[in-house]
Amino acid sequence: MANEGLLLKCKLCGSIMEKVFGSETGQSDDFELLEIKHDGEGAAKHVPIIKRDGDNVIIKVGEITHPSENEHYIGFIELLDGDTTYRKNLKPGEEPEAVFKVDTEINKLKAREYCTVHGLWES
Ligand SMILES: [Fe+2]
Repeated sequence: MANEGLLLKCKLCGSIMEKVFGSETGQSDDFELLEIKHDGEGAAKHVPIIKRDGDNVIIKVGEITHPSENEHYIGFIELLDGDTTYRKNLKPGEEPEAVFKVDTEINKLKAREYCTVHGLWES
């Protein structure tokens, strides 16, 4: 059974993993489902903004530029297009932005990003 890319965090090492197939609740006790945030404190720096530029979809993290430092940066940005997930992995020092060539209507897309300090955010 597909489960729409649930993300899990290892309680022991902090690694983030994607559950690509299986039940929503069947993970080991060593993992917890990542909470998805949409608003509230920190939203202006974290909620992804989706824009179209011709054939490309541009995802920018937050209305206010997010830090990209060694201990606090955006680890990845994902674009969710129905059953398809696009992902850009990022390193400290890189701009928190991703571009994917996708022709789906923008209002049918979701974006999410993972901040190493503030967790998972989705728009
Ligand atoms: Fe953050």
